[in-house]
This record gives sequence, structure tokens and C-alpha cells, in this order.
Amino acid sequence: MIEMQNQSRTSASIAVGAWVLLVCLALLPTRADGQSLTGRWVTTGKILENGEIRKEILELTQTGNDLTGELITPGYEMDVKGTLASGHFELFAVGWEDKKPFIVGDQVNGELHGTQSGDTFEARLATAADEFPTPPYYEPPSLHKVPFNGLAETPPMGWNSWNLFAEKVDDKTVRTIADAMVSSGMRDAGYIYVNIDDTWEGVRDANGNLQSNHKFPDMKALADYVHSKGLKLGIYSSPGPRTCAGYPASYGHELQDAETFASWGIDYLKYDWCSAGKIYKNEALQAVYQKMGDALRTSGRPIVYSLCEYGMGSVEKWGADVSGNLWRTTFDIRDEWASMIANVEKQAPTAPYAGPGHWNDPDMLEIGNGQMTDDEYRTHMSLWALVAAPLLAGNDIRKMSDVTKSILLNREVIAVDQDPLGKQASPVKTGTLETWVKPLADGSVAVGVVNMGSSATKAKVNASDLQLGGAVKHARDLWAHKNVKFKRGSYSATVQAHATLLLKVSAK
Ligand code: GLA
Repeated sequence: MIEMQNQSRTSASIAVGAWVLLVCLALLPTRADGQSLTGRWVTTGKILENGEIRKEILELTQTGNDLTGELITPGYEMDVKGTLASGHFELFAVGWEDKKPFIVGDQVNGELHGTQSGDTFEARLATAADEFPTPPYYEPPSLHKVPFNGLAETPPMGWNSWNLFAEKVDDKTVRTIADAMVSSGMRDAGYIYVNIDDTWEGVRDANGNLQSNHKFPDMKALADYVHSKGLKLGIYSSPGPRTCAGYPASYGHELQDAETFASWGIDYLKYDWCSAGKIYKNEALQAVYQKMGDALRTSGRPIVYSLCEYGMGSVEKWGADVSGNLWRTTFDIRDEWASMIANVEKQAPTAPYAGPGHWNDPDMLEIGNGQMTDDEYRTHMSLWALVAAPLLAGNDIRKMSDVTKSILLNREVIAVDQDPLGKQASPVKTGTLETWVKPLADGSVAVGVVNMGSSATKAKVNASDLQLGGAVKHARDLWAHKNVKFKRGSYSATVQAHATLLLKVSAK
């Protein structure tokens, strides 16, 4: 009996205990237990150059040791995946095919501590107060054709701060780069635009005018300086409320910002989708870009219009209708062979849409940034020239090696890129070789044979594949800077791994 009473008391206390445990678990924020990373985490935040704090939300689901989820920033959202082992986690950006994780860390006392792209990463479980405010919705305008601005008859050439300097760009850097554009011969070779990318932005003043942050004390004075060197100044914004790096952008202020840029003397605008993706679906892309196309036109200043929306919504088909002069066709390039090749190959279907005033943009150059071989950088330059891509150097022009100079300043290759016919070559694959043929305005062709393989290979260029309308009279190797001879209708040469044989061939 006593034993039975004890048993039923034990059963009752187990039941009550289990109930209490269940209630406690339900009250816990969003995480199941001490080991699971499932939940919505918020970072402690990063102080931006304009004094604002940028927090990010990391939404994770843990299944066994696998992690999936999303990184939500004020500027963009990105799918992530990774693993957890003994409290240590590693996260990769989905779709970027990165070899290294971009967030790594450990779970310590219910918080996450580690690094994110080299910076400190700290996060705690988010509460409702951490969610980003919902911006007002502005209906996109109905579509019309914005007249061509008459700019960029050949692919724009210049320099952009993002690939190397990222957020470490400031007034002094831009001035010294402008000086170096002149002293290195870049300007005289055609590299005219000096473009400031993201992180220049301050906050809006009481009248809603966007100011620059402390890194750029006087944008007009900077434009005057750049202009005094015979160069032009470019700037960056987004059609969303925030740029990709989380700074204030042009949403709801399109005309006001275009007028501000014009008043500063800006000559080029890169307009990066970023947080517009949180407000609009892809169907609105054209209307949203049209809004800034109209605004730039109304500003009255000739400003090259560079659309940056990573090729979404077949931008090549409508980019010209919003007065876009160039449009990105891919996600961001990295200083790495596979990324560079993937970007240029992915844009092959856009070829019919390239032409004077309107260019497909496989992203800026990485030449000279150090992570590819000299042959790979020559291939990078050759391919960008063959596809009539904008040539925006992304390296430190002030400290170029002789090899980097010889690549960026190869005038024979630049001439292929700048050819007035404006044709975009596409690849034909034979084994590990890819052949790209670009018809030129004078009836000749540029032909590039890229060795995608990992060992030297013999390449053969057949005149019959070049549609020259006659026998080859003149052929020149544009990297060796020497004339070569076609024998019995073909020319053969050994091409090193990841190198390119680049010829100009004519029947005249
Ligand atoms: C995006 C663009 C990049 C660069 C960064 C800046 O990722 O694709 O080229 O402009 O934003 O934040």
C-alpha cells in the first residue's frame, strides 16, 4: 500500500515536472535547447561611417549538425548554410561557391561569438524590438521609354573603389587615385571615370538632402579636383532605402538625389538593387530603374547610368529603355579564376543586346589585386575586351606592378574592347579550349583562344571560322605585340594553362 502510494506520488510529480518543463520550453525565446542554434539571432551591430549602427539578423535552423537559414541585413538578404560541431559553427553564403566560410564562431553561454568576413561577430537571440522597420510602399511608375542620354558610345572605362578598397575609400584615396590615373597613363589610355562605390553616404539633412559622411567632407570640391585632372567622377546609390552596405539610399528621394549628384558634378551613377529587393518583386525592376533614369534626365546633367541588379529580370532586354548605359549581368566578381570565368560565361546569352550606348557588364576588373596569375589576369583583360565589357579597374592604381600596367595599359587590347561596332563575342568550346570571335568595325576580327585546362595546349585558329570574307592578309598577336603568319589557312600556337592567345586578323 505504502509502496503503491509512493509510486502514485512519484507518477504525479513526474507529470507535474514534465508539464512545468514543457511550459518553460514554450516560454524560451525561439531556441529549443542549449546546443541548438535554431532561432533568430541579432548581431550587436557595426558602427557605420555615418554614425548609424547596422545590425543584422541571422535566422538559423539546425537539423542534426546541419545549419540552414538566412542572413538579413538592412541592405540585402542572403541564404546561408553550414555545420555545427561541438558548439563551433561555420556558415557559407549559398550560391557564392566560396571555399571558406564567411561566418565562423562558437556558441558560448547562449550567445554566438566569432568572426564575419574577418570582423568580430557577436549575436544574441533577437526579440521583436530588433526587427527592421517596414518602409512605406511607393507604387512603381507605369512604363515608358526614357530617351537615350547619348553617353557611353563605347564601353565606359575607369576605376571603381569597391573591389579593393570596399569601405576604406575616402576623399584622399580618390584624389591620389586620380593623380595616379594621370601619372600612370591610365587616363590617356581611356580610363576616364573615377568611381566611388558604396560607403560614402552620410545621413539626410532636415530637407531630406543626402549628405556625404566624414570620409568625403566636400563632394563638390572632390569633383572639381577630379575634373581638373581631365577625369570624371562617379558615385553609387540604390533604389531601395539602404545600400548593400547598409547606408541610406535613394528610395523615395530619386529626383532629389539625382539633383544632388548633378549639383556636385557627378558624371556616372552605379545604381545597385540591394534593399529594393525587400520592397519590390522582380516584375517592378524596369519601373524602379526607369524612375532614376527619368530623374537623371530631369537633373539636366549628362550622367552615365549603370544598372546593378545582377542580371535579374532579363535586364539586357529593357536596360536601354530606362536609359541605362550598362547593366550588370551577374553577381559580384571575386579575385579568383573560377569567379571571373563564371561571370563572363554566364552573360553569353546577353550578346545580342550589346551595342553603342548600351553594354552588358560582367562586373569590374580584378587585375592586379593579387589572387590570380599574370596569365589569368591577361585572360581576364582579353575576355572583357572580347565581350565589349566596361573596363573599370579595381586595383590600387598608385602601386601597380609593371605586369599589371602592361595588362591594363595594353592599347591593342583596349582597342578591341573599345571597337566602335560594339559587338560582344560568345564562346565556342573545343575540349579545354574556348574560342571567342569578335567582329570589328574595320572588317577584321579579334579572336581569343582561352586554355581553360591545367596544362599547356596547342591552339589552332582556322581562318575559315572567322568569316573574314577573304584570305588572311594580316594577323597580329596582341599580347606578344608582334605580327604572326597564317599558313595554309590556319595559325597554331601553344597556350599555357589559363592563358589566352589573342589575335587581330584581317583580310585587308
Ligand atoms: C553589391 C555590388 C558590388 C558593390 C557592393 C557595395 O554587392 O554588386 O559591386 O557595389 O554592393 O555594397
